Amino acid sequence: MSDFLDLCRRRQSCRDYADRPVEREKLINCIEAARMAPSGCNSQPWSFVVVDNPQLVPEVAKSTQHFGLNEYFEKASAFIVVLEEHAVLIKRIRAFIDSQYFARHDLGCATMSICLAAEAQGLGTCIIGVFDRERLCELLGLPREQRFACVIAVGYPANDTVRPKVRKSMEEIAKFI
Ligand SMILES: Cc1cc2nc3c(=O)[nH]c(=O)nc-3n(C[C@H](O)[C@H](O)[C@H](O)COP(=O)(O)O)c2cc1C
Repeated sequence: MSDFLDLCRRRQSCRDYADRPVEREKLINCIEAARMAPSGCNSQPWSFVVVDNPQLVPEVAKSTQHFGLNEYFEKASAFIVVLEEHAVLIKRIRAFIDSQYFARHDLGCATMSICLAAEAQGLGTCIIGVFDRERLCELLGLPREQRFACVIAVGYPANDTVRPKVRKSMEEIAKFI
């Protein structure tokens, strides 16, 4: 258990990357971790575009510099674009709720699995929620109506410093009864 908690505590949003490519095998392991993530009705409403082509990576980085944010992802070696796909829920549930109702939750589970798998392999990640969707559709050859969950920057961290976590206390968030 302590190994797992260490992993969770070590994972942090990395915004400074070393000039070192990420091995394709490590990226595949990240997607394998996402593939194993739980989802409502096991509908797996996700797909992933892994960008490690050195010509395309800087273009994806630029697409995250929306509203003047995210300048630092220029140095990331790869990006994993997490896409929301149509969820097929079991009939009894479908009668009561919208088919995409669980999807955001499912995609969050998959995203976190990717980040932890990356951390376990010595990689840094940062989940990016702000990006130019239209530009990404053009760059990745996706239909304009494609739904996105997030983009994840991936690379070797430029340094090993683990920042102190800014988090609510256990007392604030949990009740044991
Ligand atoms: C849905 C989501 C969107 C995020 N978007 C961005 C972003 O656009 N740019 C960025 O630098 N960090 C982004 N982050 C990272 C958060 O700022 C970060 O997770 C939070 O401050 C906690 O810090 P830590 O990840 O280092 O523990 C995002 C995180 C999540 C979960």
